[in-house]
Amino acid sequence: MKKYVIQGGKPLTGEVSISGAKNAVVAILTAAVLAESPCVIENIPAISDVKYIAKILESLGALVEEVEPSVLRIDPTNVHSMVVAPEHASRLRASYYFLGALLAKFGKAQVPLPGGCDFGVRPIDLHLKGFESLGASYRLERGVVHLSSEELSGDHIYFDKVTVGATINVMLAAVKAKGLTVIENAAKEPHIVDLANFLNSMGANIMGAGTDIIKIKGVDHLYGTEYSIIPDQIEAGTFMAMAAATHGDVLVKNVIPKHMEPISSKLRRMGVEVTEYDDSIRVRYCGVLKATDVTTRPHPGFPTDMQPQIAAVLCLADGISIVREGVWDSRFKYIDELRRMGADVSVNERVAVIKGIDHFVGAPVRAVDLRAGAAVVIAALAAEGVSEIENVRYIERGYERIVQKLRNLGADIECVTVEEEALV
Ligand code: EPZ
Repeated sequence: MKKYVIQGGKPLTGEVSISGAKNAVVAILTAAVLAESPCVIENIPAISDVKYIAKILESLGALVEEVEPSVLRIDPTNVHSMVVAPEHASRLRASYYFLGALLAKFGKAQVPLPGGCDFGVRPIDLHLKGFESLGASYRLERGVVHLSSEELSGDHIYFDKVTVGATINVMLAAVKAKGLTVIENAAKEPHIVDLANFLNSMGANIMGAGTDIIKIKGVDHLYGTEYSIIPDQIEAGTFMAMAAATHGDVLVKNVIPKHMEPISSKLRRMGVEVTEYDDSIRVRYCGVLKATDVTTRPHPGFPTDMQPQIAAVLCLADGISIVREGVWDSRFKYIDELRRMGADVSVNERVAVIKGIDHFVGAPVRAVDLRAGAAVVIAALAAEGVSEIENVRYIERGYERIVQKLRNLGADIECVTVEEEALV
């Protein structure tokens, strides 16, 4: 088992280059199964979620080849299976995108309920409602979703909750359906737009992605394409938070500043200097961090996937901050780990009240999920003394070469392998 050992207290300085977006690439790699010829996709992050999706593609009969670092060629011409194996599906949330993609390709799909981070209940009722609207029927048997349809035809689908996953799944299912599909109250995250752009480059006809109304005119054929994944908004935001927490000065490169606006404006409110350039952002600590309130909301609100990270920074702010989680029922499990490092936080359901402390103190902690892991790394980098972080596999699901990137910024961090303790 691997763990990170971090000697805190060193300001991060220098430059870091952001990798391709995890939540875009898992949808785009899945969508490649719809093409009638090979796709070449660039700026793919070397993270375990990409490996898991690639394994599912290969299990269905696709050829997945790394033509050069961060570039994959996917040849789906021999994909004949519409069954995703449980051992693959359970590894990540995004495995359920194969429901929409395989339904569009074969009119059938058999995909186990997904894995992913535990934020309390994570239903898929809106995905299934979307598939039914397009003419598919489903049954849930022993944890596996069985979808089938004679013919998919467009419909007007209204989501009473903004949902990234169901917006993506319905886009995938509708892209070859007969006629027009309208998704109302659609998710607007950057990765939704990236998927729509990818599908359109394959010959799809999708309009309005990035707004709350997406229109999809079904087409008969989708062709192989070449495409480059957008930079990861959350990885970039995580490094911006690290710079602030460690009193550093970091140039975060290969970003789309517009995607970063909710995070940049929050850090400015905290007294951090944030300067935007064409494709980079400089984050410089310049004095006491000010307490502020945060409510997470679907894009363009403050992203829920940055909630643990900004909370870790707010633990070091001067005053009392209130963090409200607007998307998930239970996304404060990581607070216990920050308390072990001295954080002064009280949590009541979806609200955390954070009282600023002078500094964290290094301690043995663990990552309880992907972004929670990022939060304890931030705390450890800023802490006095040494921290040891376990369960780093969660962190490596979504952050490419994070140890190397941090060492290049002056962090004292190393990844050590420890023997698994024999179960007595
Ligand atoms: C995606 O999860 C992301 N995962 C999550 O990021 C992110 O937190 C979330 O979107 C919100 O932005 C990927 O993209 C792989 P939702 P998803 O459907 O699609 C409710 C990370 O850290 N809902 O937008 O599962 C749901 O319970 C991960 O990278 C239903 O009620 O999220 C939640 O309250 C963690 N019924 C809300 O909608 C449904 O059928 C938003 O969920 C679907 C969702």
